This record gives sequence, C-alpha cells and structure tokens, in this order.
Amino acid sequence: LHVDWDVVTAEKGGYDHFMLKEIYEQPKAIRDTMAGRVKDGQVDLSREIGLSEDQINKIERIHIVACGTAYHAGLVGKYVIEDLVRIPVETDIASEYRYRNPIITPNTLVVVISQSGETADTLAALREAKKAGARVLAITNVVGSSVAREADDVIITWAGPEIAVASTKAYTSQLIAIYLLGAYFARIRGTRAENELAHIVTALQQLPEKADQVLSDTTSIQEFAQEIARHEDLFFLGRGLDYAVALEGSLKLKEITYIHSEAYAAGELKHGTLALIEEGVPVISLATQEAIYDKMVSNIIEVKARGARVLGLALEGDQELHKSVDRVFTIPKTLPLLTPVLAVIPLQLIAYYACVSRGYDVDKPRNLAKSVTVE
Ligand code: AGP
Repeated sequence: LHVDWDVVTAEKGGYDHFMLKEIYEQPKAIRDTMAGRVKDGQVDLSREIGLSEDQINKIERIHIVACGTAYHAGLVGKYVIEDLVRIPVETDIASEYRYRNPIITPNTLVVVISQSGETADTLAALREAKKAGARVLAITNVVGSSVAREADDVIITWAGPEIAVASTKAYTSQLIAIYLLGAYFARIRGTRAENELAHIVTALQQLPEKADQVLSDTTSIQEFAQEIARHEDLFFLGRGLDYAVALEGSLKLKEITYIHSEAYAAGELKHGTLALIEEGVPVISLATQEAIYDKMVSNIIEVKARGARVLGLALEGDQELHKSVDRVFTIPKTLPLLTPVLAVIPLQLIAYYACVSRGYDVDKPRNLAKSVTVE
C-alpha cells in the first residue's frame, strides 16, 4: 500500500488546513474539557482550584486578563460569571491591565486566559497580579506552560495542540472552562439553585452534539464566505453575548483574510458607525439572545435600510429574521448563556472559507505568530 501523505498532511488528518481540522475538533475539545469535572450532575473543580469553600465565598471581585481571542473568551466570561455568581468582573486586555495600576485587594481573583500559556503580556499581568497579592487562576491549553506553572490554580483546556495561528478550538474550550468555573462558584456561593445549575450542566453536555450539527452542513456558509471574499470592509453586529462573539468573529476574519472588519455593539450604530453603512456593505448580525432580540432586529432593519447586505445568525426555528435579512444561518437552540459556543462556529467557518477563496495562507497569516512571546 503506497500512502503519499507526508508528515504534515498526516498531522492535518486529511483536512486541507490545520485551522479546518481544529474547527472540526471542537466537539471533542468541548467534551474533553468537561470530562472529569462534572460529578453527579454537579460541577466539581476542587482538584483544579485549591481555594476552600470559605475562601471562594470571600472573593469580592474578579479580573479576567488575556490577549486576542483569549480576551474575547474573557468578555464572555464577564457576562457568564456576573450572571451566575453575582461578583463584579472586569475583563481587560493584558497589555492594558499591566500598566493601569489595577485595584487589587487580597480578595481579588485574577483569571488569566492563554492558549499557549506563554504570551508575554499575559504572563506579565499574571506576575503583576501576584505581586499585588491577588490569587491567580490560569485557564490554558498547555500543561507545564509558564502561565500554568506560575498561577496558583490551573484549569487546563483539553483542546489538544492548536497549530493554526487563528485560534478556534482553544476559544470554545476556554468558554467551557469559564462555564464550569461560573457553575462551580455559583454552587458554592449559593447564587443559583441546584436545579438551575443541573439544567446548565445538562445543556453543557449537549453542546458537543449541537456543535457537530452546526459542522454537519456548511454549504450556505461556504457560499456566503465566497460572496464576502470580494469585499474589503465588513461589519459584525451583536448585543450582549452576541457582541462578545461578534468581536471574535471579526478578529478571525481580519487575521486570515486581511479584510478590514469591525464588530460593533448594535446599540452603538446611531452614535456614529451607521455613517459607514452604504449600499452593498456586508453586515453579519448575530441575533441569538432572546431577551434583546427585538432591539437587534430593529438595528438590522436600520442597516438594511441603508443598503447593507445582511447575514443573520439566529436560533433554529426563528421565524422572523428572514423577513429582514438577505440570508439566515441558524444554530441549534441552547440556553442563552451557552450560545457563544455554537454561534462562533459559523463565524470561524466564514473566515476560513473566505480566506481560501482569497487564496491566502490559512494557517500562517502574514505578520502573525502563534504565540506572542515578545511584547
Ligand atoms: C487568535 O486567533 C490570535 N492568533 C491571537 O489573538 C491569540 O489569541 C493571542 O495572541 C493570545 O494568545 P494566547 O491565548 O496563547 O495567550
């Protein structure tokens, strides 16, 4: 039998690029990151986090610090932890945090998120936080990384090696770690009822198969990606958790297709950015958050009225959005809090297929490195 795969092709598992392989590895990464951390329907991070229940109850504020995609995961983390645990959370870009003399008290928990665990600014922020007396919890994908070694507690994301510069499975695994942390703290601090937390855990355990569902048919995503590949400017819109996901979708697109795209909180359009919308401008609008759905639809109608071409991202069964947009892509229903894990997948695929359509190097985009170990 003659197999003409070279080592790199073999490592790509038959996919054209590491990024596509890693996008398709997300259901497994989600499952593996959850494994061993849910017992009898309850989240248990007592092996990862050395804090006693009493110490967990004493936490007064949480800072989440990271760069790039990990920062975007941290933005989701702010919504999730404030919602579940009712502790004030500030999410900061590491290169800003380390120079702004942050207010750190003995009851401040600093959560650093880093796929590589070697990002210079994130590591520096970790060291600043420790010097100031904070407890530091790391969420990282590399066992034995500097961040993992220097933090007080570590939650490893079991995404497996991520080769493509554009982070995908590490991001969704970071989200899982954040949900587990939020549910664990909420149980100990009693800020959510046991049955509510059990419901969240069940919904978390259904995410891998729902992610598989999103990945099972990408035809319309590929068509849309080829359409937008011809553009040089593109906008992402969202509110709440959808805004945090829009930022991540925009970074994916920028860093591999070099298309200038920006993500906006949809409520901000009237405060200036609506001036940028003109005939034919592509706008990707996320509308998965039921509580602010009507507001989001009215923002979509605003941009449509100015000639934008709009792809709407909604929950399965949505009957409204198709009336206001040019194309709708839906994701399976899940709890509003958990939608980012599924909503990001179509955005990762749009960036991937638009990049392929433009003929650029998907796994090694110009000017970028996988881990920014220098400032
Ligand atoms: C993600 O697509 C980018 N390649 C980049 O923003 C990355 O997320 C950032 O450099 C942080 O890296 P880290 O998670 O390894 O710290």
